[in-house]
Amino acid sequence: MTYKNIYNKRGIEPKNSESPFALDELFFSITDPKGIILTGNDVFQEVSKFDRDELIGKPHNIIRHPDMPRAIFKAVWDTIKAGKPFVGYVKNMAKDGSYYWVLAAIYPVVNEEGEIEKYISIRLKPSSKIFDLIPNLYKEILEVELKNDMESAHAFLMEKLHALGFETYEDFSKRAFFEEIESREKLLDNQNNVSCQTDLTQVNNKNIGFIDLLCNLQTIFFRLNRYFNEIFGKVNLFLNLNEELNKKSKFIYELAEDIRLLSLNASIESYKIKKDGVSFSTLSHEMRKNAELSERKILQLSKIIENTKKDIEDIGFNILSSKLIIEMITFFIKEMIQNLSQASLSHEKQQEVINNINELFELLRIYAKHLAINVDKSKSQLRSMYYNIQELNVLINRLDFIHINGLIESAHTKEEGGGFTIIFSQMLKLIEAAKSEIINLETSIYSASEENQNVNLITQIAQRKIMKLQKEYGAVLSSYI
Ligand SMILES: Cc1cc2nc3c(=O)[nH]c(=O)nc-3n(C[C@H](O)[C@H](O)[C@H](O)COP(=O)(O)O)c2cc1C
Repeated sequence: MTYKNIYNKRGIEPKNSESPFALDELFFSITDPKGIILTGNDVFQEVSKFDRDELIGKPHNIIRHPDMPRAIFKAVWDTIKAGKPFVGYVKNMAKDGSYYWVLAAIYPVVNEEGEIEKYISIRLKPSSKIFDLIPNLYKEILEVELKNDMESAHAFLMEKLHALGFETYEDFSKRAFFEEIESREKLLDNQNNVSCQTDLTQVNNKNIGFIDLLCNLQTIFFRLNRYFNEIFGKVNLFLNLNEELNKKSKFIYELAEDIRLLSLNASIESYKIKKDGVSFSTLSHEMRKNAELSERKILQLSKIIENTKKDIEDIGFNILSSKLIIEMITFFIKEMIQNLSQASLSHEKQQEVINNINELFELLRIYAKHLAINVDKSKSQLRSMYYNIQELNVLINRLDFIHINGLIESAHTKEEGGGFTIIFSQMLKLIEAAKSEIINLETSIYSASEENQNVNLITQIAQRKIMKLQKEYGAVLSSYI
């Protein structure tokens, strides 16, 4: 039995032709906690070539392509079952065996008891440079998986991601999410924002009220998206800072260890020296005092970094998610308005449309709220990170000064100062490395802190608009249900 049979429960022969869809087309599906499809939009049916009835009530593996490694789906389920969103590339198979690639963002929706109620998956057409690597990478992962097992396939994936400079799958997926949204934005060049151009004279009279409602909602969501477009420009900065913090927090931690060790060695050396020992013991005392202060500062700093990292990491992701969800809503409304210009919608169908808008709007509220919290929390954290780095800089400069004095002294002392000469030159290397790392970090943190203030202002306005929207339309929308 070939993998095509094992991984292909539908028994449809995969075809090497694509089931195409346009870059501006977005699609979503909502599933129950087991992955059974409850609803979706028209593009989902069109691209997968299934009728609505064939999709609703079916497990999501109805579109599984046998080329997809199982290791990826394991990562999907491990992540979403833990209540965390998953973003990744998926190759799907339409009903006729043709394929289509998507970048899928799958969001768990959790109830008040913390249980997963449903999953919402939003898909877009991949167009970034990162995606160019994926078909081949998945092919290699699948080969490892079929030859060995899923664990080896996962290990192989991680090895490949490390080689590309990503520490974790999450780092990779956040970068891919950003690159895809950015590439889509550039290629579409805002041609997306034409709304409600339906010729109302062509519309079935019964639907006019409903179309009006959809048009109003669409205008509001377009306006709301301006705020997220504004802060979208900052995503890269937060992603970069996150990657930098990931890489540097280990270095900073090790630096504290090295400084402590060297100052200890310096004290030992100063005891050994009898002649001229006074100036050395003063120096080593100074060195030790500074090393202790630096170490404390470094530990404080790495604690702040640890506490802030999650928020920083989430800022970029939550901006991208809010933007994607709003665009999904406006696209879905556009799809519905177009449908309504061709045929009338039953009241039941209208209820379903409103239900779906409600679900997506609820998801938007969650992510916009997360974003507002992340930004607010990181405001003071970034500032204190910045001050701590500045203080650390002062301490490191002082160590630099002690080191220069040390070198001068050890040159005078000749042989007896030999041990010190080694320690001081090791210290020099350490100080130089620390200085350049810390200066880079200081610059990134300073600009992130400044930008965070702007993002904070804009998210607060967006948050107010969302609350207003919920108040004004909440009643109208729920009256439909
Ligand atoms: C919200 C949601 C969306 C999903 N989207 C897809 C998808 O687009 N394609 C896919 O093959 N699997 C998707 N899955 C995963 C499937 O449930 C399933 O795990 C996968 O197709 C592997 O099927 P298998 O275990 O039968 O091999 C999704 C799951 C959820 C919860």
